[in-house]
Amino acid sequence: MHPMIAPSILSADFARLGEEAAAVSGDGTGNGADWLHVDVMDAHFVPNLTLGLPVVQSLRAATDIPLDCHLMIEDPDRWAPGYAEAGARNVTVHAEAAHDPVMLAKNLRAAGSLAGLSIKPGTPLDPWVEVLRHYDTLLVMSVEPGFGGQSFIPEVLDKVRTVRNLVDTGHLTVLVEIDGGINADTIDAAAEAGVDCFVAGSAVYGAEDPGRAVAALRDSVRR
Ligand code: DX5
Ligand code: ZN
Repeated sequence: MHPMIAPSILSADFARLGEEAAAVSGDGTGNGADWLHVDVMDAHFVPNLTLGLPVVQSLRAATDIPLDCHLMIEDPDRWAPGYAEAGARNVTVHAEAAHDPVMLAKNLRAAGSLAGLSIKPGTPLDPWVEVLRHYDTLLVMSVEPGFGGQSFIPEVLDKVRTVRNLVDTGHLTVLVEIDGGINADTIDAAAEAGVDCFVAGSAVYGAEDPGRAVAALRDSVRR
């Protein structure tokens, strides 16, 4: 298995996003970022404000790394398809915010992206399993959404184990992502629980060499 690494630009320099994307794109031998994670926050669903569609459109033109847009916003039913139309590879909405998540997944796919569903640390998985049949990815939050640099909440790994089991037994076909507090100390536990794609913000962009940090995180999973 190739562990996917998705650096979060939340911890990057927002004045140099093109260069920051290039810093994790690798040397062409497959050691670069698999996806670039873009945290969209609206200061309503979460108590923080980041960036929106115009920045995603510009980033899409500035890098070949597939964009993984994580929408921490109210009313994703209205706004999320625009990110798919802008060329994002995966668009993730929060289960807690979506009004009609099944219809939303269909709209995202029709607009050309994968459909992702995210659950906060305190949100149980079970009520969402049926809805997840319509989705391509599940983003398990391992911190409260809103800010980078928080500590990993290990209790969420129970949800990862459950969804991994559902995928491995053929009951679901989602890619399992984890987001929050992933670094060299926490990534192994997440990998053992069955994560496919690891989002890392401060562990990548807080490092002296972000490109090397991506390769190091992936290698630590392979060991
Ligand atoms: C938090 C965001 C995360 C954040 C992760 O709400 O969804 O993607 O960037 O940052 P770290 O890896 O520093 O916890
Ligand atoms: Zn995120």
